[in-house]
Amino acid sequence: MSTVSRSAPWVQPGTPVLIASPSTKACMRKPSTSAPIDGAPRENGHFALALRANGASQAAELPVSSLREMNDLQLRKTQVPGEFDRIALRYDLLNRLNPGYRKHLHWSAERMELARNANVLDLCCGTGLSTEALVDAYPEATITGLDASSGMLELAKTKPQLERVRFVCGDAMNPRSAGLAPARYDGVLMAYGIRNMPDPDLCLGRILELLKPGGTIAFHEYSVADSRVSRAIWNLVAGTIIIPFGALTTGSSKLFRYLRSSVNHFDGVEAFKKRLLAAGFIDVREEPMDGWQRGIVHTFLAARPQ
Ligand SMILES: C[S@@+](CC[C@H](N)C(=O)[O-])C[C@H]1O[C@@H](n2cnc3c(N)ncnc32)[C@H](O)[C@@H]1O
Repeated sequence: MSTVSRSAPWVQPGTPVLIASPSTKACMRKPSTSAPIDGAPRENGHFALALRANGASQAAELPVSSLREMNDLQLRKTQVPGEFDRIALRYDLLNRLNPGYRKHLHWSAERMELARNANVLDLCCGTGLSTEALVDAYPEATITGLDASSGMLELAKTKPQLERVRFVCGDAMNPRSAGLAPARYDGVLMAYGIRNMPDPDLCLGRILELLKPGGTIAFHEYSVADSRVSRAIWNLVAGTIIIPFGALTTGSSKLFRYLRSSVNHFDGVEAFKKRLLAAGFIDVREEPMDGWQRGIVHTFLAARPQ
């Protein structure tokens, strides 16, 4: 556990707040950086906020209950790799039962349109399902997979089809500390990763550094905030299938409740595209999936300027 201080409405200013670090098995050396949240209470029961990330500051006003939920989500993000350690053995089974999961990862890999001999990074590779999509799309490429859960990586390493992949245990918020050199990659795929980053803008800046000039990034990610229908379908599927079935299979609903909540709080399609542009990416675009994931899971593509 590590101690940080932040001002928040439910603690006295300056009171230390304990942030749980990932489990000891997860291989992040220390908890990822969190975006600081400062603010002041208003008479209308709302809280005026200054959200800071990467030196930029944005004003916002939120009900105190929403702010508490946001802060809770921020804390839980640092615990995500430890939770994946716990469910690693069930992860592939769960996703095999999710129609379209593998096909859609393949679509995102193919949509990157990389050269045959490209140098590619799979950030937050987990048990290697997204890495398999890269290997299938680019069999001659040099592929590295990074994840902070050693339990997920151990499973990835047992897969014969991934025997040529180099797997690295480390924090996607700080890829340099895991030994990944800047300007080295023709392509980076991040499948179901950016939503879990405690400071997504900082993470985007670091991904930009990893790419060669002209290199391509693909985020394969949920985004439902722009559409009432997508939000309703997502909450129906999460509440009636993903959470109960996940709890039955793994013995706990914690990670699956976090999944529902983190998707509900993640950027809409337009906001995420703007975030990518603000981080310095160009050629930003979104491509859809089919099936129940249409309007819910997306490929976001972008490039590092030459
Ligand atoms: C939903 S899984 C996705 C795995 C894989 N990309 C796939 O498509 O099946 C999310 C993965 O992100 C990893 N993760 C979460 N936070 C991380 C961080 N800060 N650094 C590296 N990996 C992280 C988790 O350990 C987990 O394996």
